[in-house]
Amino acid sequence: MNILAIESSCDETAAAVVVDGRIVRSNVVASQSELHASTGGVVPEVAARAHLRMLVPVIRQALNNAECTWSDLDAIAGTSGPGLPGALLIGFNAARGLAFARDLPFIPVDHIEGHVRANWLGDEEPPLPALALVVSGGHTELILIDENGFFERLGGTRDDAAGEAFDKVARLLDLGYPGGPVVSQLAAESTDRSFRLPRAWLTGTDDFSFSGLKTAVLHTVQDDGAPPPAEIAWAFEDSVADVLSKKAVRVAEREGVTSLLVAGGVAANSRIRELIIERSSVPVFIPPPELCTDNAAMIGAAAGVHLDQAVRP
Ligand code: KG4
Ligand code: ZN
Repeated sequence: MNILAIESSCDETAAAVVVDGRIVRSNVVASQSELHASTGGVVPEVAARAHLRMLVPVIRQALNNAECTWSDLDAIAGTSGPGLPGALLIGFNAARGLAFARDLPFIPVDHIEGHVRANWLGDEEPPLPALALVVSGGHTELILIDENGFFERLGGTRDDAAGEAFDKVARLLDLGYPGGPVVSQLAAESTDRSFRLPRAWLTGTDDFSFSGLKTAVLHTVQDDGAPPPAEIAWAFEDSVADVLSKKAVRVAEREGVTSLLVAGGVAANSRIRELIIERSSVPVFIPPPELCTDNAAMIGAAAGVHLDQAVRP
């Protein structure tokens, strides 16, 4: 079953060919991060126009890399949401239009489920029940996946998403966009790691909050006796990693799951990966960094388990 998957929910134009929701035949991502660097964040209208320019070449490249012709395809999938409405519409309607033209089944896919399903693209299939921690630019969610693969959201951020906090802190430290990789790089250069920033535990809930931490960074930066930027970056990254890993591990233990899955752009962060692996008592699954950030292979992986939801446009 060859599925062509298309993703355009934010600032990556992506297409992939995935076999049976498990094997990646091709995975092409055109990132717009350079385009959005000058504004320090994604301007929705600019993102939508870039998707329009990039989508056809990206799809063509995905088919070429997979050595696939149109007649080799069995279904087409597209991200239905959540995301920027203008950006989503470009990829979703292209995917649906292609399915219509080729008389193929069309599978709409939830972006968050896509992130989680990237964990099914490795050699080993995660055992269920599982707890998934989805940490991206737009989301910070804890999702319980039962034995049958049904998703139940247990909690999430009450304000900023983890990735959003990285992006805002990068702006406060004048580091550019996207913030995650640059903040992390700077943090790695820190030598004195004694400076600490607060943690919001929201005890008794499965929720998160990162806006207070962001404000603490702002106050630190404005302070005359502020530590060097690398130490601030380290303290920020350590606070996020500490809270995410401790809460995820605690909920996994409480729910008695057999694996802990991490997904989303922030899962590319090595400190977060390290702490979760160190603290978890059940096996941890984290996709390789290129399958953590937005891509279409993960959409193909989720489509592979939702063939029953396919429609003929
Ligand atoms: O999953 P993703 O590509 O897009 C959304 O669905 O939002 O995640 C993008 C987010 C951005 O906020 C980016 O700063 C963050 O993931 N990110 C990272 C790292 N790489 C990307 N955050 C922390 N450390 C990283 N290495
Ligand atoms: Zn995403």
